[in-house]
Amino acid sequence: MAQEDIFKKLVAHCKEYGYVFQSSEVYDGLSAVYDYGQYGVELKNNIKKYWWDSMVLLHENVVGLDSAIFMHPTIWKASGHVDAFNDPLIDNKDSKKRYRADVLIEEQLAKIEEKINKEIGKAQKRFGDAFDEQQFRETNPRVLANQKKYEELHTRFAKALNDNDLQELKQIIVDQEIACPVSGTRNWTDVRQFNLMFATEMGSTSDGAMKVFLRPETAQGIFVNYLNVQKSGRMKIPFGIAQIGKAFRNEIVARQFIFRMREFEQMEMQFFVRPGTELDWFEKWKSIRMKWHQALGFGEENYRFHEHEKLAHYANAAVDVEYKFPFGFKEVEGIHSRTDFDLSQHEKYSGRKIRYFDPELNESYVPFVVETSIGVDRMFLQVISAAYCEEELEKDSRVVLKLPPVLAPVKLAVMPLVKKDGLPEKAREIIDKLKFDFNCQYDEKDSIGKRYRRQDAIGTPFCVTVDHQTTQDNTVTIRYRDSMEQERVAITELGKIIGGKVSMRNLFEKL
Ligand code: GAP
Repeated sequence: MAQEDIFKKLVAHCKEYGYVFQSSEVYDGLSAVYDYGQYGVELKNNIKKYWWDSMVLLHENVVGLDSAIFMHPTIWKASGHVDAFNDPLIDNKDSKKRYRADVLIEEQLAKIEEKINKEIGKAQKRFGDAFDEQQFRETNPRVLANQKKYEELHTRFAKALNDNDLQELKQIIVDQEIACPVSGTRNWTDVRQFNLMFATEMGSTSDGAMKVFLRPETAQGIFVNYLNVQKSGRMKIPFGIAQIGKAFRNEIVARQFIFRMREFEQMEMQFFVRPGTELDWFEKWKSIRMKWHQALGFGEENYRFHEHEKLAHYANAAVDVEYKFPFGFKEVEGIHSRTDFDLSQHEKYSGRKIRYFDPELNESYVPFVVETSIGVDRMFLQVISAAYCEEELEKDSRVVLKLPPVLAPVKLAVMPLVKKDGLPEKAREIIDKLKFDFNCQYDEKDSIGKRYRRQDAIGTPFCVTVDHQTTQDNTVTIRYRDSMEQERVAITELGKIIGGKVSMRNLFEKL
């Protein structure tokens, strides 16, 4: 099945099984805004816990923060967001659809890359074990021609972005003959800049209300609290401040479900370091963060680093962690060396000293910052698209979410075989013992087979069935979601078996 069809099915599955709903659906929805249902919120909370604990519990020099969404408007002037937080947009005059010019060109690059990969795939099949990919890349004329096209376009694109040259971006779109996916025409407007921040008004005085912004990143809340945390926590550099919270961006092109939203959540950590050491720390955090992703077990080959074509106005190094979504490799997390830009700007605009006295050097300086920034919703999409699986079985088929047990919303379902003979009471007894440690679900409706399928579809890793034998010897069958194997175990063993599989410790030990 085509990847796009799988993605459509995944979106439908998220709705059907209470993971993600379109916001304001009864009013026909609000574009690029989503609500999380009963299972979605549990998965989201588990992802946040995995991130938070890996940052704050496992690093003694990283502490947490929860800063407000509304902040003084000058913060956004200082950070550069008022003047430079823009996307280059272009409209197709026939379809009236609006696109990000940079995304159109990135998609063109991806198409060329895909052609190269197809060529390699075909040759791989033809030559089998004898295939030497490097040699093929260096000698095959079609691959070489496409590689040249890719490099030329990439260089031209990176230069246009770095020079902020909107005319050149348009020219690339024209030269590459990029057509609007809706109208199929190449009838484009010029490229314009569009600021992504949402604004609202605070208070009401005779002089008028104050214009405030909904934060487009949580990071600035950390920067403006740097001194508060450093002094109240007697923090010594290097140290980090971690925060999870909502961010808002008026995205021009909102597509691909929860991949690009207008209201979303970020998990960000700013790590404050001695100037001159930032690039070493940048490399260290790159490796820590990649391990965090790979510990979930979705296959190392599905992750890669992507160097930025254009460095943000505040960065001297930047890389994305990309995951292979059903619609291709895309960014899940950004790791940036933000220099001393933000703290220096806040010094300048606030008129306060924002420094660190380094007792080892006996001098004060503005710390440099390495940032790790990941979207909760994008991570959610990464996890659920990696977990979604359609399996053909001997007699039928099933849809199963192979979520890592640690992240699964419901850890176990307890099912009485029949609704009589004391079996429901026994099942409830088991839940009453286990509910303090695990999210349990009681399920007595329909046949056992149907109940298993329902639990597979929401990703429950363990199903426990209570039958007549249970009332005699206090044993139950436990059924494992992925292998569908079943075994008979004592009720007293359940806590240990399940606890061993769903503990965050399993992930933390891999980091
Ligand atoms: N403080 C740096 C910063 O915000 P970013 O690369 O713009 O950097 C970081 O965003 C992460 O936030 C992205 O890697 C992505 O996971 C998430 N993110 C950004 N915009 C998003 C959007 N519109 N919808 C969902 N997630 C988004």
